[in-house]
Amino acid sequence: MDIFDAIHSRHSTREYLAEAPSDAIIASLLDAAIRAPCAVNRQPWRFTVVTNRPWLDDVSERAKAYMTQTRPLDLPQTLYEKLADPQFHVFYHAPVLIVISADQQGPWIEADCASAAQNLMLAAHAKGLGSCWIGLSQPFLATAEGHEALQIPASDHPIAPIVVGAPRSESPPSPRKPVAVNWVR
Ligand SMILES: Cc1cc2nc3c(=O)[nH]c(=O)nc-3n(C[C@H](O)[C@H](O)[C@H](O)COP(=O)(O)O)c2cc1C
Repeated sequence: MDIFDAIHSRHSTREYLAEAPSDAIIASLLDAAIRAPCAVNRQPWRFTVVTNRPWLDDVSERAKAYMTQTRPLDLPQTLYEKLADPQFHVFYHAPVLIVISADQQGPWIEADCASAAQNLMLAAHAKGLGSCWIGLSQPFLATAEGHEALQIPASDHPIAPIVVGAPRSESPPSPRKPVAVNWVR
């Protein structure tokens, strides 16, 4: 797949088939992720790969409860209503969650991990898989309970929780604003 085709045809997937991609495919996605640029080549990323279905169901519930009880983000009311819906699964029943965490402090750790996440999502698309960044799970994953669930050190910073799996349905493209360009010649 040409890189421009990949960029143009990737969309966030919110309906997944139950079967998880093989460990070899997941390894290839992680290998693509670590090819991302990063500040001072510090490579601050740690990847937690979760394929445990009860874990995903449990953390979905805990993330929703944390969001609705603490309202840590300034989100539209409709999103908080969605989070309160018992039918809503924050990970969309995807078979795999990959959480990219920074294992160090620094001014660029979020940019570094987001770059790795974009590589991972494009690589997943090139393998015929869907993906979606699950920002709604981030506030819970950042708590002590979230760290414990992820089995990562308290000093880590979970930055990019990405679900991956075979898409159950084709996602419509999200509209884009025209490019806001400011040439300085
Ligand atoms: C930081 C970040 C957080 C996101 N959080 C969520 C989320 O919690 N749930 C969700 O369904 N999509 C989430 N998304 C996906 C965006 O909604 C999606 O990328 C955007 O609408 C553009 O659509 P596209 O990815 O299909 O091009 C997130 C994306 C980013 C970059």
